[in-house]
This record gives sequence, structure tokens and C-alpha cells, in this order.
Amino acid sequence: MSAPRRLFAANWKMHKTREAARAFARELGDRLEGAPCAGELVIAPSFPLLDAARDPRERWSLAGQNVASERGGAYTGEVSAAMLQDAGCRYVIIGHSERRQIFGETEDVLRRKLERAREVRLLPIYCVGETAEDRTAGRTESVLERQVASLGEDSPGEPLVVAYEPVWAIGTGIAAQPEHAAAARELLASLLSWRRQVRLLYGGSVSPDNAPALLEASGMDGFLIGGASLSVESYAAIAGIAPAA
Ligand code: PGA
Repeated sequence: MSAPRRLFAANWKMHKTREAARAFARELGDRLEGAPCAGELVIAPSFPLLDAARDPRERWSLAGQNVASERGGAYTGEVSAAMLQDAGCRYVIIGHSERRQIFGETEDVLRRKLERAREVRLLPIYCVGETAEDRTAGRTESVLERQVASLGEDSPGEPLVVAYEPVWAIGTGIAAQPEHAAAARELLASLLSWRRQVRLLYGGSVSPDNAPALLEASGMDGFLIGGASLSVESYAAIAGIAPAA
């Protein structure tokens, strides 16, 4: 079987304005004009920026950074899967460690979010990863097993993206060593071997400097990129888009 197309997902978190998102989209579009990307590009802006980050030519797709666990109704501040789909999203990030840790999202909530995404054919980018404490205590494997167990009720035939993001590597400037990411990839691939179409990403302090070695040595199918996705320069370098002429 041929290797899946690599995926480079930009997680903008709570950054940028509509004007900044439009400028990014213009600049990325210009870059791609001269040098189409071999990988798949996905941008996950915050909700009010979705329109501004869109590519009218669909050379990249959009992702929501989060989705409600309910279908609709009296849930002030929530955004439903149907709304994301209607706003043009193809993907949705579910279970990012910031959602798990800061907003207390449990495995049960994440299971329901996955269901909501599937109902409207949004593709989940499901995040897993151990904390520094888990790692020191030798719990990395059991944590990943538990987090992956939430995918148990998700239909095995549906395409799925799982992002391995060790919490200690997110936003710290200290990416996992390629061997560590490779071991996590192997574990996740075996835990998910019952599924048909899974792409595995690495995330956590990915930069233009460490991306080539991480990609080659870890065997991952791409990256979920936070800080380094905020500038076209570094995002394009990571995704392997040729420099502007
Ligand atoms: P980072 O974030 O690349 O800034 O470490 C990654 C993420 O949180 O998805």
C-alpha cells in the first residue's frame, strides 16, 4: 500500500485577527502559486477567523479547533459540528491537551464530540499525549492506551487522524526526540491496527529546524503545528513548500 499523503495542520490557537488571517492566506496562496505542496495543508483558526483563512481555490482546508459535544440548543458559547461544517470546515481538532487540561474535557466528553463530528462528516484530528509527570512515572503507554480507548466506538472504516502531542513538548521549544516520536507512533499504530485509514501526526514544538529529522526518523504522516504555524515563512518551510522566489 502506498504511504498516505502527508498532512500539515496549523493550529493557530487563540491568535490573529481577521486582517492577519487574510494576510496569511494571501501570502500562503502566493507561495503555492509557484510551488504546489505535495502534502495536504490544513489551517485551524479560531472560529471568527474561519472565513478570513479560507482559500477560494481550496489548496488548503479548514479545521475547527474544538466542537461542542451537543448537537445544538441552549449552550451559550458553544459551536456545533453542523456549524463548523456549514462554515466550510473539513476537519476538527478534538481532545487537544489544552482542552483536556485547562477546560477539563474528559474522555466521555471527547467521545461525544467525536460522534457529533462524524454525524456531519467532519474528519477528526484526535489528540493524545502524556504529561511530563506521566512520562517520568513510566506511564506513557498506559496514558496513550486510555486516550485511544475513547476511539473504541468510532466506526473503524472512517478516516481518522490521530496527533501524538506529548504535553511536555507543546509550546516549550523542546520537541520530542525522533526516537521517542517513533516509539509513540509504533504503539499508536498497533493500538489502532483495527482501523482502516489512520494517519498519525506528531505535534509539540515542531519548527523548520527539527521538522525534517522528525518526519523522516519518526515515520509520522505529518505534523500538528502550533507556534511555528503562525508565520507563512515557518509553516511553509515545515510543510516543504519551496521558498518564495
Ligand atoms: P506548538 O503547539 O507547536 O506551539 O508546540 C502544538 C500544538 O499545541 O498543537
